[in-house]
Amino acid sequence: MKLGDTLTLSIIDYDHEGRGVAKENGFPIFVCHALKGEVIKGKIEYINKNYAQASIVKVIEESPARCHNVCKYYTLCGGCNIFHMDYDEQLRFKHDMVKTTLKRIGNIDFEVDPVVKNPNPLHYRNKIIVPFKEENGCVLSGFFEAKSHKLVPQDQCLIENEHARIIIEDLKKEFEERNVSIYDEQTHKGLVRNVMLRANKDNELMLVLIVTKENITINIILSKIFDLHKNIKSVYLNINNKPTNVILSPDGFKHLYGDKYIIEDINGLKFKVHPNSFLQVNHDQAEAMYNLVLDHLGNDRKQNVIDAYCGIGSITLNLALKVNHVYGIEVVPQAIMNAKENMGLNNITNATFICGKCEEEIQKLVKVDNVDAIVFDPPRKGCDKHFLDTVIAMKIKKIVYVSCLPQSLARDLRYLIDNGYELKRVTPFDLFSQCSHVECVCLLTKVN
Ligand SMILES: C[S@@+](CC[C@H](N)C(=O)[O-])C[C@H]1O[C@@H](n2cnc3c(N)ncnc32)[C@H](O)[C@@H]1O
Repeated sequence: MKLGDTLTLSIIDYDHEGRGVAKENGFPIFVCHALKGEVIKGKIEYINKNYAQASIVKVIEESPARCHNVCKYYTLCGGCNIFHMDYDEQLRFKHDMVKTTLKRIGNIDFEVDPVVKNPNPLHYRNKIIVPFKEENGCVLSGFFEAKSHKLVPQDQCLIENEHARIIIEDLKKEFEERNVSIYDEQTHKGLVRNVMLRANKDNELMLVLIVTKENITINIILSKIFDLHKNIKSVYLNINNKPTNVILSPDGFKHLYGDKYIIEDINGLKFKVHPNSFLQVNHDQAEAMYNLVLDHLGNDRKQNVIDAYCGIGSITLNLALKVNHVYGIEVVPQAIMNAKENMGLNNITNATFICGKCEEEIQKLVKVDNVDAIVFDPPRKGCDKHFLDTVIAMKIKKIVYVSCLPQSLARDLRYLIDNGYELKRVTPFDLFSQCSHVECVCLLTKVN
């Protein structure tokens, strides 16, 4: 086999990103946008000693699970990667991927629950960041091609909040009419870089324009857009003049118009969402996930619980309503400030928020009587080993692990199982329809 060869390939499986997998004399070939069960003609685009990658030249035998009603930018934009699967196939893929990852990485053979469906597989994202580009005097907006910084101009996105697009189009018109310069990544010249829009479940919006410096014309444009779109409740600038790919400058936020935050309702609790607050991008599925976390903890009101990696306290405050006391730990000081604010906003008094690394701060909670249960919701890399060692040493009876990456989850579950815990439930949730990411909620209990 060599580069450029065209082969007839039978797709026998998916890899963890949802690419089709074929084998040629036992040698694995990954094929983007190919479905399990299909026979395709594929062109070898990349090859090394362990595997090859091929693109589809022609689908010879098509799977009934192939979705033809895909976004018109699908093959160019790097945002979604499993839009070509119909929704049931997406759910099957996610379920099997979680199950095989637990086995492959953690050597855990476990009956994984069916994936909890997303009630809205389109237009579910409540936060989007869109870059701008200037071409022949026209202002374009779009998304970057997969694994590149090449902008694909787009006039729609099927997963973003439906109210965002009209605002992006109005901004582009204003930039063109008033000759506002657009930032160029190569020369590092120009004013406007990106726009971020966040929405709450009632479609109230926060607009953050990312610029290299303050500018009076920009303020005039934003004031006009704010007046025009009554659903925009908050407008910020983010001033980022650094020549980097990092979009938001952490200390560059400047509030301009409206409120300083929007309020999101999660299970009847109110959360102030600031421009840099972490919040799950799919509101309805986040609520469903948090409800399962609460179910796993049961109805014992006397429990003391730790919520590790707590962000702005979205799980912590849900827990506070059901337990005696909850301790939220989070490393970002601003998130802890927001969590405390949210606690006051909801008149909750039985939560304590601690700012610092979980692996260090949990040591201080060792002495707290009766920590009955712990919830973890770590970032993609999973939990720190020292943190898990402390949880194990504390002999906490129940663990609810919320994970956004099956690979790190499998590693951490193996460690907990080897150290006295039994895995009771693994429930995947589809928060990111059309994309291969999957969240899981797992329950573990201490073996006596
Ligand atoms: C996936 S988010 C979970 C947020 C929250 N539970 C929620 O549902 O909105 C992970 C959080 O862990 C925080 N984090 C990352 N590493 C940490 C560490 N070592 N100790 C404490 N918090 C950490 C991040 O800042 C982020 O807020």
